[in-house]
Amino acid sequence: MDLQSIISLDEQYYMNTFGKRTPVCFTHGKGIHLYDTEGTEYTDFLAGIAVSALGHCHPTLTKALHDQVDKLLHTSSLYYIENQAKLAEQIVKHSCADKVFFANSGAEANEGAIKLAKMYFYKKNQPEKCEIITLTNSFHGRTLACVAATGQEKYQKPYKPLTPGFTHVPMNDFEALESAVTDKTAAIMLELCQGESGVRPATQDYVDKIVKLCKEKEILLIVDEVQTGMGRTGKWFCYEHYGITPDIFTLAKGLGGGVPIGALCAKDSVCAFAPGDHGGTFGGNPLATAAGLAVFKALDEEKLVENAKTVGDYLQNSVKKLQAEFPVIKDVRGLGLLIGIEFSEPIAKKVLGELFNKHYVANAVGDTILRLAPPLILTKQDADDFVCALTEILKGE
Ligand SMILES: Cc1ncc(COP(=O)(O)O)c(C=O)c1O
Repeated sequence: MDLQSIISLDEQYYMNTFGKRTPVCFTHGKGIHLYDTEGTEYTDFLAGIAVSALGHCHPTLTKALHDQVDKLLHTSSLYYIENQAKLAEQIVKHSCADKVFFANSGAEANEGAIKLAKMYFYKKNQPEKCEIITLTNSFHGRTLACVAATGQEKYQKPYKPLTPGFTHVPMNDFEALESAVTDKTAAIMLELCQGESGVRPATQDYVDKIVKLCKEKEILLIVDEVQTGMGRTGKWFCYEHYGITPDIFTLAKGLGGGVPIGALCAKDSVCAFAPGDHGGTFGGNPLATAAGLAVFKALDEEKLVENAKTVGDYLQNSVKKLQAEFPVIKDVRGLGLLIGIEFSEPIAKKVLGELFNKHYVANAVGDTILRLAPPLILTKQDADDFVCALTEILKGE
């Protein structure tokens, strides 16, 4: 189908919640490249919003999926699933979690985390501890509880009354957080590097104080690693940068390398769910967990987490070097291959458009921030090529 026909079909039948989309339809990909209906090649610096960690059609993932499709797609978790058990093992071996439950998305994993925190205190005969503190400008997903958890009015307004029990405080302001804690606080839930609101890392001091507060007041710490997990930030999980171990953390995005999957990961001490307390038809089915296993295999074998750190630092430094020549670059920040470039003027969308004209795929967060989340297979040469394209744009070429 040609692009115009696809757009017409979409406009007639698709329930558009995404606004005006970039007029392109990608038909296939290889490595860090995407190809559209006309056969034009694009370089992917977004990875489907931090999802395609291995790039496109990585042989390890493609083979694992082909093999699994030929065998079995789904059985339900009424039966034992080998891949599910093995993927849970991989997550536990690479993290601070002892147990894993699988969902189908980040929002669903976060719903599970919120429910688990409530269940933990319910089972301890402290049902009054049922409230959760989250951060302003956070993003935790689109289900009703996650919308309530998300500290952004624009996502909440039409859906009021919201799920009760969520309080929001500004990031990196410990006093505000401390004064929001009450006898009802069950958990503090946060992204250690806020992705959707412009790649904003938490400070070490703030995180250290939160951990101390949680211990003192018997509050659970939930870290949303949906965007930052699976090597994206140059460590397996972002919490490692801070030297902490959350009670609960959630994964999705990179975990399936493009196949929908989410994970709720918890320490044994907080695993309060008993049979029947939580569930889901699809979560951790043989296909999705085959994808997760292949992602772990490729990340491990090809040392892609280390690569995310090396190439991510290199890319960040290269963009920082442009600041002297182009003061319009106000700030360059992030961890590993999750990078935000903030401009002092509202030019992010214009720069994004010009990058697209040069066949680069990236993302703008608001008017001033460009977000980069390329596949973790990125090389220094790929980074140089991108910086070259960005330089040309800033020079007006
Ligand atoms: C930090 C974070 N949490 C949760 C979500 C929601 O994940 P999903 O879109 O898979 O439901 C996202 C999505 O962007 C996210 O970035």
